[in-house]
Amino acid sequence: RQGKRDRAFKIYGLVRDFYRLLLGKEIGAGARRYLESRRLAESAAETFQLGYAPAGWDNLVKFLAARGIKTEEMVQLGLAQTRESGGCYDRFRNRVMFPIWDSQGRVVGFGGRTMGDDNPKYLNSPEGEFFNKGRLLYGLHIARRSIRELGYAILMEGYMDVVSAYQHGVANAVASLGTAFTREQAGLLTAYTNEVVIAYDADAAGIKAALRAAEILQQVGCQVRIASITGAKDPDEFIQKYGLAGWQKIIQQAAPLVQFKLLQAVKAHGLSNKRKILQEVLPNLAAVASPIELEEAVKQTATVLQVNWETVLEEIKSFKKNTR
Ligand code: UTP
Ligand code: MN
Ligand code: MN
Ligand code: MN
Ligand code: MN
Repeated sequence: RQGKRDRAFKIYGLVRDFYRLLLGKEIGAGARRYLESRRLAESAAETFQLGYAPAGWDNLVKFLAARGIKTEEMVQLGLAQTRESGGCYDRFRNRVMFPIWDSQGRVVGFGGRTMGDDNPKYLNSPEGEFFNKGRLLYGLHIARRSIRELGYAILMEGYMDVVSAYQHGVANAVASLGTAFTREQAGLLTAYTNEVVIAYDADAAGIKAALRAAEILQQVGCQVRIASITGAKDPDEFIQKYGLAGWQKIIQQAAPLVQFKLLQAVKAHGLSNKRKILQEVLPNLAAVASPIELEEAVKQTATVLQVNWETVLEEIKSFKKNTR
């Protein structure tokens, strides 16, 4: 078993090196232009070991076969797919390749971005023995030192967000590889910090997912705040547009869950529907464990609803009684 794992890591490493090498060659010119168009710096591409999977059906299959790797193994590792007529072909073709590591920095899979508008935009390694989206945090082994130094982590959605943030001097960011954040991913973070700022995309899906992630992180004892990305659709676009200074401002202004939900609820229901707004935040108020945080959250709720804070406390009490 251990032997099989080590062999898998070795092969994934070989594949990463193959893609990396090609990014620097003639054949990788289009991919380099794509990265340039995304304003991704060479140094960041190197740190994150980006590569290029060439067009054509069997470049990788041939490369691996020449190194004694059997096609069954390539298929098992999610690098190749079998043809009904026999033989097999490369899973990743004509894509910019992002290796994905486990928290120890071993490659366990890949994400490949199309340079055009093919679907899917990102093709990932298939879920399997080594690659489990819900059990990985992209970039954690790179970010962990900075997370420790700064005392908090930033949680983003995508590869591009993390790479772009890093390039602009923000090294404590990791990505959940989409919006479905899990308890296991929360567990990975708490090994390094229990302070997290969520910086998901600004769209409705991102906001919804941020609220869910915040609740999960809170359940494992984290102090969570949610950043509001405005004027851009995601952290990558934001930091390119507003720079490090702009970024630091929205991190500073990131709001605790209750406050963020209050803002959202006011936006959705208007200030006149106090009952509705209160209903949105009561479960979260009831879940706040830290007395200091609770006091702050109660005060903010009272201010928004223009009621006394004692009233909010009463509401929390009866909410707790009714849900027990
Ligand atoms: P986004 O759609 O927000 O992409 O997905 P992005 O990170 O902003 O990428 P660019 O800027 O368009 O290049 C966020 C994350 O969700 C996962 C990827 O991990 C991606 O980074 N995702 C998204 C997929 O796995 N497959 C997809 O087709 C799309
Ligand atoms: Mn998104
Ligand atoms: Mn993006
Ligand atoms: Mn995005
Ligand atoms: Mn810049």
